[in-house]
Amino acid sequence: MLKKFITADNSESFMNEEVGESYHSHTGGVEEALKKYAVPCKIKELAKTGKIRILDVCFGMGYNSAMAISVALEENPDCEIEVVGLEYDQNIISKIQEVNPPIAFFSHYKKLTPQALGFTEGNVSVKVLLGDAREMVKTLSENHFDAVFFDPFSPKTAPEMWQEHFFAEMYRVMKNSAILATYSCARMARDNMSKAGLMYDDGPILGRRGPGTIATKWMDIFSNP
Ligand SMILES: C[S@@+](CC[C@H](N)C(=O)[O-])C[C@H]1O[C@@H](n2cnc3c(N)ncnc32)[C@H](O)[C@@H]1O
Repeated sequence: MLKKFITADNSESFMNEEVGESYHSHTGGVEEALKKYAVPCKIKELAKTGKIRILDVCFGMGYNSAMAISVALEENPDCEIEVVGLEYDQNIISKIQEVNPPIAFFSHYKKLTPQALGFTEGNVSVKVLLGDAREMVKTLSENHFDAVFFDPFSPKTAPEMWQEHFFAEMYRVMKNSAILATYSCARMARDNMSKAGLMYDDGPILGRRGPGTIATKWMDIFSNP
């Protein structure tokens, strides 16, 4: 059962009563999409290069990648953008029709339904691969993505999503220059990132919660931003 609620930034989200967790933080789903994902993954800077490939893990209603596209197009309207989303629940994809977050590109995400899992709009292509993200990721090419938005339910609720072998897949599909961002700073998640070969650091702090985590294949990305 999905129950709608309004987050502190006035954007809509849902509470999944079976899982016991919401799709976005109560402090604000839109703010989180910008500050926990687009900014630490340097989407604005990547837009200047003219081409960005984003992996939106646990796509849900796609706030994170819709925000990144909006940020990138504002910086460079000609930027070529490829988004691949991984999501296993058709129900949450159908909920895209019921929300209107203040994200410029989100109106185009309304084209996504369980029957139509992809679209192209100008230089932007968005495709959602329906299925268990841990399996679907294996179909993706190595060294492909510039940014990974890693947004499963929490390590407490969904520990299976924060395991070494899944992070090893993230490592495989990330370019050497890529950045992975997630909202969690859980020790277990960070340890498993390390075991998979990723190097991590604190991500941004939002509200009164702990920092997120950013991870990369090469430490010098953190020291030479
Ligand atoms: C915290 S929500 C993500 C919210 C999303 N980023 C958004 O902007 O709406 C976690 C998402 O992970 C999805 N999920 C959980 N387990 C999954 C799995 N094994 N494979 C793919 N998606 C999964 C859930 O259906 C849910 O949509």
